Formats: sequence, structure tokens, C-alpha cells
Amino acid sequence: MSDALPESGGGFPLMRPRRLRRTPAMRRLVAETRLHPADLILPVFVREGAAEPVPISSMPGVVQHTRDSLRKAAHDAVAAGVGGLMLFGVPEHKDACGTAGTDPEGVLQVAIRDVKAEVGADAVVMSDLCLDEFTDHGHCGVLRPDGSVDNDATLARYAEMAVVQAAAGVDMVGPSGMMDGQVGYVRRALDSAGFADVAILAYSAKYASGFYGPFREAVQSSLQGDRMTYQQDPANSDESLREVMLDIAEGADVVMVKPAMSYLDIVRRIADAVDVPVSAYQVSGEYSMVEAAAAHGWIDRDRVIMETLTSVKRAGAKTILTYWATEVAGKLR
Ligand code: PBG
Repeated sequence: MSDALPESGGGFPLMRPRRLRRTPAMRRLVAETRLHPADLILPVFVREGAAEPVPISSMPGVVQHTRDSLRKAAHDAVAAGVGGLMLFGVPEHKDACGTAGTDPEGVLQVAIRDVKAEVGADAVVMSDLCLDEFTDHGHCGVLRPDGSVDNDATLARYAEMAVVQAAAGVDMVGPSGMMDGQVGYVRRALDSAGFADVAILAYSAKYASGFYGPFREAVQSSLQGDRMTYQQDPANSDESLREVMLDIAEGADVVMVKPAMSYLDIVRRIADAVDVPVSAYQVSGEYSMVEAAAAHGWIDRDRVIMETLTSVKRAGAKTILTYWATEVAGKLR
């Protein structure tokens, strides 16, 4: 019994893990996970026709930008060293097939041109490739007469969106609608239109999540029904791997898990299984929960923000989309 216990003699423990935790310098030396500004991607919302930035009440500190304030936000993000920006457009007019999403002068295309002009090659400019911001019913695709989402008709719309976004100068598109075959379809559309260099960040393992709640306010979406028939069931894990493998086979350059914090097991599983970079999206509800609890004085805001981001990276994400990207990147510098 007694020789199973490593001792230095005299009853002292031979191994004392606390030695490596004793000082800040020691902890820094042995840290396995380190956040870097370039790991962080800032999601931003731009609202067509806005004269002033419009605060999003369920996401304190986040706004729907005007064209000017978006450029400033992009400038500040790059100055802080963030790796990229993910653009979401809020159009003035929504309709059943999301026409504004494929209008070359639509809000998202204008935003891509503005941000690209502002940041140039200093950060990766990405755009959400999905219809829910543009449809009046709030679904990520076009609907059949019975109200169900028509997968293949939606693919055709995504292909058009990809090409107008690429023409506007985007570096990377983010198909996020969870339609079957969307990555391959978008890849072919881009290649055929001469945009072989535009990369694809695939929202591969995207769950039907309550954590997207505040995002609805951010893009003024009044979703009718839910997304359970196309986004993944939170009960499943194997399915994520299947989706990721399909997306990689279809040409995804980066794969993403979304949301982040409740799905760290998925991030780890995927990071262990694939050799493309893995990204994770710390979504609106994750942001709002921390901000709300901090506003009540219930948690230490800055400490919890760093802890959440470190956990997502530790789980295996190379890059993280987070509404705190600029602030955190500034602190890391
Ligand atoms: C779809 C999309 C959504 C989010 C990002 N892209 C909404 C959804 O799928 O329901 C949510 C992001 C967030 O909550 O921060 N275009």
C-alpha cells in the first residue's frame, strides 16, 4: 500500500502540482492555452438607412451600425489586432425570398465594400451567407406553399448570394443556413464565376439553439416557427461529425461549431478528427448572459469573458467569433 504513494521521504508528497501555480510568471510559463488577438473575429451588424447607430437592447454594448460607424468599428477592430470581421446586414425591406440578399447594392454588399476599403489586407473580411436576415418570415431559406423550407430552391439563392458577396470583395463567405449540400453548391458557384480564391467558413455543426435569442433583435427577425428541421438537435454529437465531414468533402476551408460554450465537447471532437482549422461562435445569448449577470454585480465581467474565450480555445477552436473581439484583443496587446 504505502509504496503506491510517491513520497520524498518523511511523509512529504514527492509531486506538488501547486509549485507550477505559485506565481503569475510560473503560471504564464506553463499555460497550455494562450489567446491571441488574431484568433478573434468580430461579428458586426449594419442597418440599411440608419442615420445613427441603433443600440440592441438585449446585447448591451452592441449596435446596428450605420455605414460610417461600421467603418470606424472595423478600423478599431483592426487597430486592436483582431483576425477578421463577420458582417451581417439588416435590410430596410424584407420579402419572402430575401431579394435584398442578392441585390448588388444591398446593405450587406455595400458593407463588404466599405469594410474592405477600410481594412484592406489587414484583416479577413467575412460575410454571413444566409437568408434569414432578408426574409420576412425569418427562415434561413425559401418556403414551399406548405411553409416548409425548400432545401434545393434555397441552394440556388445561396449560390447567387455567394457570387454577389464575392463580387463586392469579401475574402470568406460563411454559409450558415444548414441546408444540405450548401458548401458544395456555393463552392461551385464561386468557382464558376471566377472567385476560386474566396474561402468558405462553413457553419458545419450549427445547433437549433435558444442562445440565438438576442440575435433576432439584432437583425430584426420575427421568426415564424423554429429551425428544428434544419439546425441540429442539441441532443446529438455524432451528427456534428457527419456534417463536418460532408462540408470538408464539399470544399469547406474552415469548419465551425455554434454556439460555443454549451458545445465544447463538440468542438473537441471535431478538432481531434479534422485537419482543417476549427472555429467556434460565441453567440448573442452567451454574450448577453455574461453582460446581464455582470450588470447585476453577480460575476466579475472581465474575468468571465477571458475564462469563456480561453475555454473555447482550450477545447480546440483556432478562431472564435465573439462580440467582445475588439475589447479583448485590445487587452491582450
Ligand atoms: C443565420 C445566423 C444566426 C446567427 C448567426 N447566423 C441565427 C440563427 O441561425 O438562428 C446567430 C448568431 C448569434 O446569435 O450571435 N443567419
